[in-house]
Formats: sequence, structure tokens, C-alpha cells
Amino acid sequence: MLTYKNNNPYIEGTSLYDLVKVCETPFYAYSQKKIVDQVNKTKQILGKNIFYSIKSNSNQAILKLMNSLDIGADVVSIGELKRALEAGFDPNKIIFEGVGKSKQDLLYAMHKNIRLINTESLEEIKLLDSLANDKNKIVDIGVRLNPDIDGETLSKISTGKKTDKFGIEINNLDKIIELVKSCKSLNLIGISCHIGSQISKIEAYKNTFNQMKKAADKFMQSGIKIKHIDLGGGFHVKYKDSDPEFNIEMIKEELDNCFAQTNYELSFEPGRYLIAEAGVIVTSIITIKNNGGVNYLIVDAGMNTLIRPAMYGAHHEILAINLKSEESLEYSIAGPICESSDIFSKNVKLAKQEIGNLLVIKNTGAYGKVMSSNYNSRPLPSEILVNKDNYAIIYSPEKIEETIEADVIPSWL
Ligand code: LLP
Repeated sequence: MLTYKNNNPYIEGTSLYDLVKVCETPFYAYSQKKIVDQVNKTKQILGKNIFYSIKSNSNQAILKLMNSLDIGADVVSIGELKRALEAGFDPNKIIFEGVGKSKQDLLYAMHKNIRLINTESLEEIKLLDSLANDKNKIVDIGVRLNPDIDGETLSKISTGKKTDKFGIEINNLDKIIELVKSCKSLNLIGISCHIGSQISKIEAYKNTFNQMKKAADKFMQSGIKIKHIDLGGGFHVKYKDSDPEFNIEMIKEELDNCFAQTNYELSFEPGRYLIAEAGVIVTSIITIKNNGGVNYLIVDAGMNTLIRPAMYGAHHEILAINLKSEESLEYSIAGPICESSDIFSKNVKLAKQEIGNLLVIKNTGAYGKVMSSNYNSRPLPSEILVNKDNYAIIYSPEKIEETIEADVIPSWL
């Protein structure tokens, strides 16, 4: 995403140095072109029924951009639903997922007449039926199935094994059918699944598609007319060179093999794949030290800015901006947070660095800013959207003084 012109780093037609002049580091910067290209490619290959999983990056500007590209939204909370509506998504293009939707969540989603509420437990189906009944409504629903497939991804982002908390076990179709048939106010028209994130093995997709087709056929045979099959997200992004090659054309091939003779409307709900590669973090080196032979670069971004390495052991490539130095050294790159896990990467070979230099953490457009926090009472990172030689700050964090003011001192102190 970063290109060089006369030794100066650029995102699209905008110099990184111009961004640093208007925004304190650390900040996230996104390339609009990369997002648009990725969405269009996905639509072209997998069809128009793409529901952007907004949990991966829910900045209002990003949502507006996604909406302008004529895709839908996949939301998992009232907050996300409000964000999607505010960004202009047609309610009929919003699906609501989530393993723990409260009564208020369900009432709000029902009230907004969104496309589909995907239920994740038998208890939730019963609750939704009684809420719809109280409101004299017939509500279209989907059921998220847990197909018991190991996506062979990081354990913390696996969701499709039968012991995972998500969805309803696929072996329980008879129970679902019996229950749904007894519900007066629900119309089961869809099934969905999501076996995890960062899924690269085509076998996992193939098994999932086959299981879902079988399940849909079984519902149909029971008299329940399934219109939509939502095959989830989870498409793999190449974070390191050694990561397996992945392209969604392979998925398309398996999709055609499995569903060629059917009339189900197929959809996907990717998050990471649409936006991860469009984002970088720009961070400054605060200090340099050698502890026990380890060369540390301490930067101003920390696990509060990007939690993926500390939380999942995830890898993000880090680039130096200064390409001038002839000498290169091996560094461990760490944040300023008082936690040993606040390390982005160990043994990274970079041109020799100085305090104040900028580094770029790559592929951070997804699950970056949305998972940032005020830990250690640090402000959240800003976000910038770059569009050719134009850019806009699309998120400015509240000042730490404002964060402090949000705390309330009780009368007895
Ligand atoms: N659909 C459902 C029901 C999901 O739970 C998720 C992600 C997606 C779609 C989108 O998955 P994607 O295409 O983005 O892989 N914070 C973790 C990822 C957690 C994903 C949670 N669910 C990370 O930073 O890797």
C-alpha cells in the first residue's frame, strides 16, 4: 500500500509526511482505493450479496464508503445497527448476528424491519417469537448453524467447532424444525454459518458449503422454505510472506460445484478481507534501548492501539520509513504499555533507526482501531482516510482530560 516517490513514502497520492504534519502519531491511515478495489473484486467474483461485517472497522466514513459500493452490512449489536443505519444502509440490507442478543436488541432490530435476524439458540428463537407475537408482527429470521468444522485457524478466532459457543449444532436440525413450526410469529427463511476468521484451507470451505446445502435441503423437505444461505466471512488475509496463498476464486469454484443445481440465494459476510490490507498504523519511535542483547525500539503505538499481536499472537509486518541508512539491525518493536505482552514483533530486520523516526505497521485496517482502548490512560488513535492526493481525519479521539471528566466522584469522597 505504501509507495515511494523520490524516497518519500506515499499512500495513494498523499505523502505520509503530510499526514504526520496534521495528525499526532500513532494513527491509522486507510487507502480508499484499496477498499474500493477489494470490495469490487469480491462482488465480481462472489456476486452482489456481500454483507460487510462492520465489526472489523465501523468508522462512519468507512461505513458510508461501503454503503456507496452497494453492499449490505452484518451487525452484531444495537450499537453497530445504529452505526449502519446512520451511515445510510437500507434496513433491508442489514443482517443482525450475535450469540447474545438481549430482548432490547431484538425489539430494536424488529422495529427497524431489517432484512434478517440470525438467531443462535433455541431459547433465542422462543424469545423472538414471543416478542414478535406481542407486537403482532411476523418476523423473518435466519438460524446460525454450527457445522462442527475446524477451520484450522488461531484458536481464539475459531467459531465453527461444535464446542464453540456460536450457532446451533447442526445435528439439532430436527429440534429447530419442530420449534420453528410451533412459532406463530416467525418465518424461517435463511440459514447462516461462520466457522472462524483467517480461514485459508479450501477443504474447510468445501465441507462447510456441503453441510449447509444438506441442512437447507433438509429444511426444505420439512416444508420450511429456505431462501437464503449465508456462508459467513473469514476469508484469509496474507499477513506474512510464509502465509498460505489464498484467493477467493477458489471459493467461487467450490461454490459452483456445491450449489450449481439449487435456487438458494447465497451470501457472504466478510470483514477483514475487505479492509485489512487497506490500513496501516503510523507510529513514531519514542526511544531505543538494548536490554540483555535485545535491541528494542519503543514506539508510541501499543497494545492499546493494536491488540492483535498481544491477544492472538498475530503477526503484522513492520516497515521502516527511512530507507537511507546502509546499516541494518535486528530489532524488537514494542509499545509503551506496562505489560510484557506489549510487543508487536521480535527480530525484525530494519535499517538502523533513530529516535523520532516513523515506522509503519501493515495490514491493520481490520480489527485495529475498533479494538483499541484507553489502557494506561492513553488516548485512542486517530484515523485518516486517504483518497488520491486528498485526505480527511475521520476520527479524532477525545482528549484524555475529557476521558477523566467522564468518571464520576461519589459524594462521600
Ligand atoms: N460473520 C460472523 C458471524 C463473525 O463472527 C465474523 C467475525 C465475521 C462474519 C467476519 O469475519 P472476517 O471476515 O472478518 O474474518 N478480532 C479478531 C477477529 C474476530 C472475528 C470475529 N467474527 C482478529 O483480530 O483477528
